[in-house]
Amino acid sequence: MALWGGRFAAGSSNMFRQVNDSLPFDRVMAAQDIQGSIIWSRGLKKAGVLSEDEQSQLEAALSELKALAEKGELDFDASPEEDIHSFVEAALIDKLGDIGRKLHTGRSRNDQVATDFRLWVREHVDSLKADLKALIRALLQTASRHQQAIIPGYTHLQRAQPIHFAHWCLAYVEMFKRDLSRMKDLKARMNQCPLGSGALAGTTYPVDRDMLANELGFNSPCLNSLDAVSDRDFVLELLFCASTSMMHISRMAEDLIFYNSGEAGFLQLGDSVTSGSSLMPQKKNPDALELMRGKCGRVFGSLQGLLVTMKGLPLAYNKDMQEDKEGAIDTVNQWHICLCIAVEVLDSLSLNEERCREAAAQGYANATELADYLVEKGIPFRTGHDIAGKVVLAGIEKGCAIEDLPLADMQAICDKIEDDVYPVLQLEYGVNKRNILGGTSYETVTKALYTELENLDKL
Ligand code: ARG
Repeated sequence: MALWGGRFAAGSSNMFRQVNDSLPFDRVMAAQDIQGSIIWSRGLKKAGVLSEDEQSQLEAALSELKALAEKGELDFDASPEEDIHSFVEAALIDKLGDIGRKLHTGRSRNDQVATDFRLWVREHVDSLKADLKALIRALLQTASRHQQAIIPGYTHLQRAQPIHFAHWCLAYVEMFKRDLSRMKDLKARMNQCPLGSGALAGTTYPVDRDMLANELGFNSPCLNSLDAVSDRDFVLELLFCASTSMMHISRMAEDLIFYNSGEAGFLQLGDSVTSGSSLMPQKKNPDALELMRGKCGRVFGSLQGLLVTMKGLPLAYNKDMQEDKEGAIDTVNQWHICLCIAVEVLDSLSLNEERCREAAAQGYANATELADYLVEKGIPFRTGHDIAGKVVLAGIEKGCAIEDLPLADMQAICDKIEDDVYPVLQLEYGVNKRNILGGTSYETVTKALYTELENLDKL
């Protein structure tokens, strides 16, 4: 029997149940729903609605249910109830009879679901923060394993300037640190308690809303009942944090897929995160990385989906809002899996430092060094740029690198070029000359790496 059956002469159609029921997915909030109810029962006791004995019976029964929920022993599949809220209330009435029927006094499923979902999101913010931290740690460890390695740096996917591999790792550390701080912001903003807002207008019972908020670990109660029951910003923000972070994960995956390609050959991935081909025996495909990239589609879709769902809704609660859950639950799962598999990929990869170095030295990636060398000889940079371009052209015509051109060839282009140009054209020279905060020199990168390692526990 539905919670709201009194006014209805006929039951729901099967098709209506399919569109309306949320128990198949909102069961994930069972523990939060029960915890919310325990605290609500305390609020009702303090407001003089429940006697001490009634409240303690309710709390004992709810605690038993919570233990079952945590062990995964609640039988949702056999239940005729429409959502997690009616499921818990029905179970309580089953155990306690009329006392169970008192729990929903002064409460609505509207403030209840808003509270439950905030609790659920808050818990996952914490666990996802831990996942992000683990990924940052893995990147730092990967950088530490290859502190000397130099790879080509790209713009437009053309070799641009050589960089330390650790510098590449630290670039992603910055991105995941921002993701982490966005999650902290989200938590601070969302940590307000809707309970006591009733259906939309507040409740008539004198519950202590500060106490409710406090006992559920919120910083304060929500300040407006209409907003409290109809606000889903906290879900949107979570989806935005996830989308941005998945975009970072995806870019990292894309870099690694390229580095792993036969054409680049910079690294190899472990067997544990790759798969073979059913037809081509030689293949070892970077599936984990491709899926990290591919799963962005559904995550971005969930953000877009909820924005569209919310945009036309009049205040206050509308059933459209039940659509907030499946996308968020899926997103949290996928983001978690991707963060974890990213760690496994990094732990498993082996960098071919020699091949990286070889590639970094090719592609005229030291042309900027030549232009800067000419600047030191008193030539304006724009002129130096032009001369260096002509030297590159000479190299291309001869089929060799700049540093392999005879001095006479270079001097034919510019007589300011002397024998002392050759050390400048060496790979490490250009890399280590970028010895500036945020740059790619060995010294700066090593310093940055140690700073990040030191700060890891404070994240
Ligand atoms: N299952 C509903 C949801 O997720 C709970 C709230 C129902 N409220 C209502 N007024 N029908 O949004």
